[in-house]
Amino acid sequence: MDPVALEKAFELYPEVKLVVCAELYGFPGDINKIKEICERHGALLIEDAAEAMGATFHGKQCGSFGDYSAVSYNGNKIITGSSGGCLLTNDLEVANKARKWSTQAREAAAWYQHEEVGFNYRMSNVIAGVIRGQYPHLEEHIAQKKAIYERYKEGLKNLPIRMNPILDDSEPNYWLSALIIDKEYMCQQVRDDSKALYTKEKGKTCPTEILEAISSINAEGRPIWKPMHMQPMYRMHECIGRGGSIRAKTNAYIAGGVKDIGADIFERGCCLPSDNKMTPEEQDRIIEVIRRCFE
Ligand SMILES: Cc1ncc(COP(=O)(O)O)c(C=O)c1O
Repeated sequence: MDPVALEKAFELYPEVKLVVCAELYGFPGDINKIKEICERHGALLIEDAAEAMGATFHGKQCGSFGDYSAVSYNGNKIITGSSGGCLLTNDLEVANKARKWSTQAREAAAWYQHEEVGFNYRMSNVIAGVIRGQYPHLEEHIAQKKAIYERYKEGLKNLPIRMNPILDDSEPNYWLSALIIDKEYMCQQVRDDSKALYTKEKGKTCPTEILEAISSINAEGRPIWKPMHMQPMYRMHECIGRGGSIRAKTNAYIAGGVKDIGADIFERGCCLPSDNKMTPEEQDRIIEVIRRCFE
């Protein structure tokens, strides 16, 4: 989330009371600034740290900035229970309420007594055990992910790309390495809601070509997460960027005269295979096929 765009959104919608901000790929953004803006406007902050567990910003753990925060133990995360997650809050009353709602909202009675509607969201003790068993290895997992990121950075250096940015005084958990191709080195690429096509041009490439190349050696990459304002279910709704309101259009870098940074990153970016079980030799093969795309 861009703090400048958030400030702009509050100018347009001062009555907003809740902000949800996600820390993507395990690389913290300026969450202190986001928090300060929310506090100034009397809004609560939910920090979606699903991908960022173990990362820190100004020495403080991601997941500890929001009024309420969440981390995920989904199958692809840095610590996994195959599914599940955690709600984080410093407010004991809220924690107890969430615990109650997540376990069918049972009242303190010998029988099933309900005064409010609840949910069946409890985590099984088996999954909790699997997750807790991995916590002592969190630092080790981060070190492996960091080594993967640095190997890509070194192997792809001198190509017209940039890897995930690292803010000053932040320590990512390096969960997912991603790259973005410089504009002048993008070949033509078009996408509809499910398919993509590109025209090969000498010395240029695009995420679609890179992902095909990675897939040809049985590895798995992904496009950068498609922004919410480009999703069919939301794309007719308003989205606020730095310059004000954006109407999202697929592949539109400039939408309605306003720079659509999310659409631009989606157009030019891709996530690279980042599994910590990947060997250096496997990663070198991936680096080699990516380099070939720029020939
Ligand atoms: C940023 C972000 N938020 C939320 C989720 C959802 O987490 P879960 O699958 O544990 O519900 C994910 C990934 O799964 C995520 O990456």
